[in-house]
Amino acid sequence: MSQLSVNHLLGIKYINKQDIDLIFETADHFKEVINRSIKKVPTLRDITIANIFFENSTRTRLSFELAEKRLSADVVNFSAGQSSVKKGETLIDTVNNILSMKVDMVVMRHPNPGAGIFLSKHVNASIINAGDGAHEHPTQALLDSYSIREKLGDVKGKNVVIVGDILHSRVALSNIFALRLQGANVKVCGPKTLIPKYIESLGVGVETNLVKALEWCHVANMLRVQNERMDISYFPSTREYTQQFGINKKLLDSINKDIIIMHPGPINRGVEITSDVADSDQSVILNQVENGVAIRMAVIYLLASKIK
Ligand code: CP
Repeated sequence: MSQLSVNHLLGIKYINKQDIDLIFETADHFKEVINRSIKKVPTLRDITIANIFFENSTRTRLSFELAEKRLSADVVNFSAGQSSVKKGETLIDTVNNILSMKVDMVVMRHPNPGAGIFLSKHVNASIINAGDGAHEHPTQALLDSYSIREKLGDVKGKNVVIVGDILHSRVALSNIFALRLQGANVKVCGPKTLIPKYIESLGVGVETNLVKALEWCHVANMLRVQNERMDISYFPSTREYTQQFGINKKLLDSINKDIIIMHPGPINRGVEITSDVADSDQSVILNQVENGVAIRMAVIYLLASKIK
């Protein structure tokens, strides 16, 4: 059986094209499973997984929990806000206490970049990064590429523009790594203040004109402005941001081609995307969420097969 090259999923930076192909082939199988009337397989009855979330989440957290339950794993959920972290317990102590209850795998979201990498070096369990600050969100990038592959047949050779707050986005960085590994052409578009200076060194083009970016692309991945990670203002006002970098139906219709519209969520309707685009036939936003469960089942299954 083919195996992943890694024992943890800490970022797309640490995996290769063969890993992505294997995850997608495995997700194809699980997508078929979750569309049956009985959406479960007994595969991971002997595995226990802890979902530990130090930051808010709707999609990722529920998607991981559903993926785990559909593989028949035992699941425990931990929210930092209701835990003894509030009494001063460290991350390593917290996780080692959870692991001593015979937990095999940890899915972690954390506000600090590199938290998953740090944890993987200090505890004896397989770690999946469910988003670490502005660093990486690997399963989001995998489900995004999987959704492009589903819609366009292949990721290779496709033009993908990532629009918005690139500077604070773990989704952007993981997507750039994943898309480049698969041979897509990638541009970022947004205010210059929200585009990191190093971005071109990742093989990515920069376009500050949204119309030109849309004319170029097959896929536009619209990102939210991450106000919670900003301690200064990066653009004059939300209204001006929307005028320059928001997508609406009139703008989309003026581009004479069928661009696929993606968004990782949560959406700020009327800021980076209007409802008539988010809810249109060109939008695959809910397909992305659906595919997230199959992708996470595949990642968990493949990592679990390395610890059995
Ligand atoms: N896309 C994403 O990570 O959404 P959540 O923050 O709701 O998990």
